[in-house]
Amino acid sequence: MSPWRRAADVAETAALEVRDLRVGFDAPDGLVRAVNGVSLRVDAGETLAVVGESGCGKSATMLAVMGLLDPASTIVEGEVLFGGQDLRRLSDARRREVRGRDIGMVFQDPMSSLNPVMSIGDQVDEVLRQHLRLSRTDARARTLELLARVGIPDAAGRAHAYPHQFSGGMRQRVMIAMALACRPRVLIADEPTTALDVTIQAQIVALVRDLQAELGMAVIWISHDLGVVASLADRVAVMYAGRIVEEAPVHELFARAQASLQPGAAALRAAAGRAGHRTAAGDPGVAAAA
Ligand SMILES: Nc1ncnc2c1ncn2[C@@H]1O[C@H](COP(=O)(O)OP(=O)(O)OP(=O)(O)O)[C@@H](O)[C@H]1O
Ligand SMILES: [Mg+2]
Repeated sequence: MSPWRRAADVAETAALEVRDLRVGFDAPDGLVRAVNGVSLRVDAGETLAVVGESGCGKSATMLAVMGLLDPASTIVEGEVLFGGQDLRRLSDARRREVRGRDIGMVFQDPMSSLNPVMSIGDQVDEVLRQHLRLSRTDARARTLELLARVGIPDAAGRAHAYPHQFSGGMRQRVMIAMALACRPRVLIADEPTTALDVTIQAQIVALVRDLQAELGMAVIWISHDLGVVASLADRVAVMYAGRIVEEAPVHELFARAQASLQPGAAALRAAAGRAGHRTAAGDPGVAAAA
């Protein structure tokens, strides 16, 4: 199916919509209520940034959306609508199909999601072969193209390396290549560029923008880096204590944070306080907000 068709198919409904999501973790001292009724939506071609202080529930929200939390120790409630269909009601097999092909995710901790005993190239090949049924040769050609696009020099030579032979930033780039491999309709990226230097950050942001224009990909981008948020996002949702406390178009929110008139501004400043101050695109408004 052409990517254009795929983008057009979801134009009527949100690419991804979350309704009243709640996540509770079973902990020794009782239930930790990490997410307390989060609702959000992102449309095709749009980028929603999610910001908020450490521990406010950003990763828990996205892991629940992907159906990756262990049901034995977590309670998840709410709806996760992908193209209008509730992912939480799909069979495990169907959900695995959607995950990785239609919804790509870049995890906050790349080491834990790469296989330590499989070469980088084989791991990207596997995603392509499993979800797109590409032949070995076609998969490898696409893998090398992807690795080059995320800024891995000498991709053909490096594809044989194992994760421990890559730096943290290179592993993160491999995770981004894997998440983008099947040209997903939705990309969820959890602090995807924090470990990367400014040049590579800018390259990743440009790649995501290109793919958005090409495929109409919807993006949810969790970041503490307000420079990246300003250069990529259309809207920003500010989370605090498991809830979205404010949501606005990106320029509006930065303007308001500067004026410090809204409760969300405090959370935004808290998020900015943790930002690496290594921005992919300079924005005077951001510097002032941070
Ligand atoms: N497996 C778990 N068991 C118990 N509590 C957890 C678990 N995972 C997360 N939590 C708790 O849930 C809350 C939300 O955590 P989460 O990882 O979603 O935060 P976050 O917003 O992603 O923070 P950060 O910016 O540091 O990545 C925190 O209080 C955290 O301690
Ligand atoms: Mg997190």
